[in-house]
Amino acid sequence: MKYHIITYGCQMNEHESEKIAGILESLGFEASKSKEQADFILFNTCCVRENAEHKTFGNVGALKKLKDENSSLMVAVCGCMMQQQSVAQKLAETFPFVDLIFGTHNIHTLADMIGDCILNKQRVVSIQEGDLSIHEDVPVTRHSWPLASVNIMYGCNNFCTYCIVPYVRGREKSRSAKEIVQEIQGLKEYREIMLLGQNVNSYNGGGVDFAGLLETICAQTDVPRIRFMTSHPKDLSDRLIDVIASQPRICRHIHLPVQSGSSNILAAMNRGYTREQYLELVRKIRKRIPDIALTTDIIVGFPGETDADFADTMSLLQEVKYDSAFTFVYSRRNGTKAAEMENEVGKAVQKERIMKLVALQNTITEQKNKCYEGKTVRVLAEGISTRDQGHVCGRTGSGKMVNFAGNKDMIGKFFDVEITEGKKTTLFGRITQEQG
Ligand code: 5AD
Ligand code: SF4
Repeated sequence: MKYHIITYGCQMNEHESEKIAGILESLGFEASKSKEQADFILFNTCCVRENAEHKTFGNVGALKKLKDENSSLMVAVCGCMMQQQSVAQKLAETFPFVDLIFGTHNIHTLADMIGDCILNKQRVVSIQEGDLSIHEDVPVTRHSWPLASVNIMYGCNNFCTYCIVPYVRGREKSRSAKEIVQEIQGLKEYREIMLLGQNVNSYNGGGVDFAGLLETICAQTDVPRIRFMTSHPKDLSDRLIDVIASQPRICRHIHLPVQSGSSNILAAMNRGYTREQYLELVRKIRKRIPDIALTTDIIVGFPGETDADFADTMSLLQEVKYDSAFTFVYSRRNGTKAAEMENEVGKAVQKERIMKLVALQNTITEQKNKCYEGKTVRVLAEGISTRDQGHVCGRTGSGKMVNFAGNKDMIGKFFDVEITEGKKTTLFGRITQEQG
């Protein structure tokens, strides 16, 4: 029996698909690269923006043909989108051929759900509201070597007014530091660990805060590189800055979503900081860790966003000069506070703003990438370049993608690379030394 998983959305979803793969492999399934050869096809969905939902409906619908040709094929849909009752219902009604529908809180029961489906020859729908327990015994199958993601917490308490995540993922729950350290100790062949949480800065594992967790991981594991995401600016403590500054194994990169450069919009978004407080935080971080790379998320066209508010976002970008930014047009999500707000910004204005924002950030990213030319950086080779088979690609600690001549035997090793060219999205260079 073969399985094929299609994942939408964030790294949290990617990692949950690794858990689903782990459960399927413990049942004897093998991974299949193509949908056509699979006996079990699963969509792990996202609902953060509307287009993610459209994509899922389109792609699940397209499976009908495969299902018609092969009646034993099982089709499952899970993830955030299924935690929204009305959407799960609509999907179930639109696609009667979907065999299994489940949410984000009951992945650990997948084996039983599949058993029920097969035994009773009928559809299983199993969606739970906010499960407060953490299930530690779920196997994980990773295909990401030399990188590995590790969950440190689940859920979110912040209720930013535009965001659906707290509704579909429930309240924050932190794993114990002991469990996290044990998991990382078991990932000896991996060279870089990404610690995942909706807001890692509010991690609280039985009294251990995020700074304490990082210190414990540095002390009790050998992993050469540690990353984390996402950091909410309102919860980034001085102690955390100190720990990052003092531990060279922690990557010099903080993903610090600002969302808007206007204090008015930040208040309407319920972000918990003003433009000035955010800028002060950036200054503080850069003073303590001068080589830190900062990236961000920005939303344009939030309800009530005026030209002046948008100008504030543009000027904040100029001031901070992020290494890169994920930019989004506001997407109305039913059930959130922002969905009830008046003064929605028209589509044409939203489009104009996002284009201006992307153009500005592209110029900044390019300038920053140019600054790398002539410098030597430490890179972990991650894989073969998709553009050029004679090249490997990998990241600097600051998160920049670097391409250089090489082969698959180099994957998983660190290299010092002199940057010869800094382009829009990638740096190009040549190896000066292998670090092993
Ligand atoms: N519309 C647009 N972007 C959103 N994000 C979250 N919710 C929405 C929404 N309703 C963005 C935020 C967040 C990132 C993961 O997705 O910028 O940081
Ligand atoms: Fe959504 Fe805000 Fe929580 Fe991030 S911090 S997941 S944007 S509610």
